[in-house]
Amino acid sequence: MKIAIGCDHGGFKLKSELIKFLKRSNHTVKDFGSFTDESCDYPIFSYEVSKAVSCGRFKRGVLICKTGIGMAIAANKVNGVRAAVIHDLESAVSSREHNDCNVIVFGSRFIKQKKAKEILKAWFKARALKGRHRRRVGQMKKIEMEKRFSGGR
Ligand code: RB5
Repeated sequence: MKIAIGCDHGGFKLKSELIKFLKRSNHTVKDFGSFTDESCDYPIFSYEVSKAVSCGRFKRGVLICKTGIGMAIAANKVNGVRAAVIHDLESAVSSREHNDCNVIVFGSRFIKQKKAKEILKAWFKARALKGRHRRRVGQMKKIEMEKRFSGGR
């Protein structure tokens, strides 16, 4: 799978480990930075990864900051992105099955490397469900369309 990944200084260490893991698992990974653990601004990296997923160049995105919160808020501003902060297996699977989540966000303060890898594995494997779940995702897409035609409000 083609995966876009990004972080701020708070996620740099975990990102480096996850890139190795994803490559070993035969995924194609593009690193959108940050490339050091020096203080930087999470919206910049969130936006780059989110655009890459939104335009279809990458199937999924992975974002990491200290809490996951800022990255997720910024990512969800981009049309076509459904980002969720995930720290447990059940939410990971549910985010795919119920919400067709395409960007997963970790908070490095709250998750261990081993758990993040287990979560990624489960998240990639889980499929978006049809029926009422697809209908609800469709309703979210409709909100995005309305937003476009109302000048973004
Ligand atoms: C950086 O200090 C921190 O604010 C950032 O990593 C993230 O947790 C924001 O939501």
